[in-house]
Amino acid sequence: MSSAAVAYARKNHPRFLDELKALLRIPSVSTLAEHKGDCRKAAETLLADLKKIGLENARLIETEGHPLVYADWLHAGGKPTALFYGHYDVQPPDPLDEWRTAPFEPTERDGNLYARGAADDKGQVVAQVKALESLLAANGKLPLNVRVLFEGEEEVGGEGIASHVAAKPAHLKADFALVSDTELFAPGLPTLCVGLRGMIYTELEVRGAKTDLHSGMYGGAAPNPFVALCQIVARLKDENGHILIPGFYDGIVPPSPEELAAWRSLPFDEEEYRKAEVGSKELVGEQGFSVLERTWARPTLDVHGMPGGFTGAGAKTVIPAKALAKVSMRLVPGMTPACTFELYKSHVEKIAPAGVEVEARMIHAGDACLIPVDNRYIQAATRALREVWNKETVFIRSGGSIPIVGDFERHLGLPSVMMGFGLPDDNLHAPNEKFHLKNFELGIESVIRFLEEAGNL
Ligand code: BES
Ligand code: MN
Ligand code: MN
Repeated sequence: MSSAAVAYARKNHPRFLDELKALLRIPSVSTLAEHKGDCRKAAETLLADLKKIGLENARLIETEGHPLVYADWLHAGGKPTALFYGHYDVQPPDPLDEWRTAPFEPTERDGNLYARGAADDKGQVVAQVKALESLLAANGKLPLNVRVLFEGEEEVGGEGIASHVAAKPAHLKADFALVSDTELFAPGLPTLCVGLRGMIYTELEVRGAKTDLHSGMYGGAAPNPFVALCQIVARLKDENGHILIPGFYDGIVPPSPEELAAWRSLPFDEEEYRKAEVGSKELVGEQGFSVLERTWARPTLDVHGMPGGFTGAGAKTVIPAKALAKVSMRLVPGMTPACTFELYKSHVEKIAPAGVEVEARMIHAGDACLIPVDNRYIQAATRALREVWNKETVFIRSGGSIPIVGDFERHLGLPSVMMGFGLPDDNLHAPNEKFHLKNFELGIESVIRFLEEAGNL
């Protein structure tokens, strides 16, 4: 690879890594109010670097939550414009005692960098920024026009960026989005993600008596909201993984036979996946669908926690007045958040046992997305990836969600190139999250080569 920018990136790699570590030390956990200041600090750190490397109009854009980071470089007359996207917020680090080294003290071990946010998504955001730095430093200019938009609320639904994008401000005009927040299908295998599931994240609240009650005095007469909540939850799915909400599956657009055939030729070993990635006795889910279909192209329903009642050490004999469950559903093309929520809400109201009231509330929602692969930006990306990784690119979907990607298409008309560099075993959202150091390096080179390719279009 003869690119001067790639040579610059290789030479400056140790410093790039130090800068990533500095960003990882900031605990920018978007969902916890006590880290509000840290979220702003992470945004300001990125902002300062974007200014330093030579981007213009760099500023924070305030939202009702954490700020967006914006910057641009628009001097490549006649060339396309890329909108760079990533997120600087991270998931909470708990359970803390399962981390081998502290989550906000980035540590190198076995060719990996361990820290909360290493792969999701700070490592990838920094890879984007360092690709821009390398191009600007080596050539004094970029091969195309670039706008950068980073958010700090992806992990909590992305409300701020969604309303910003929906307003279609002039400074978001672009030809395609470059999204670095996904993963390779397997180590060393260049991958473009072309589909994501959508989601609705809800809270179910069940109320029984007007106050907490002594379970000896009232047990047998007073309704127990936790038992009722468990009954409701248990009635949402049958033992074959089929979701029992009437109408839930209506309108789903299945993957094409070609896409399914391509998935069958991916290097995937179900037994290895069960053992090494999931680590459970058996895999579960809808019968008649492969693991990749179940995780990429079928909707799901999961329970994340049931707060409330007595959960401390020891014993307390109480019938709680109310019970909560955090329940989310992953959506696939053909389903809409609003419609799915209505079906779910009326169903839980219908199946609630006697004596309790149930309320379903939407916390956040985002659409599924599916990117057509026959556009020139995706093609340019495969050329760049072939050069950097010496392999043909595979196209995959992911079961995860990045709510803004659907909005880029809907509101701005932008196709997204989802070029991400995580690995399936990076422990996203879990203890011991890591980023493979080689992927940080090749990620930077991939973005550089992609911009060079896209600049030739
Ligand atoms: N980067 C992930 C989504 C992802 C994971 C895409 C793996 C591809 C492969 C993103 O940060 C994420 O975790 N999103 C949340 C979104 C939700 C909170 C709205 C998710 O999927 O749970
Ligand atoms: Mn992410
Ligand atoms: Mn995430």
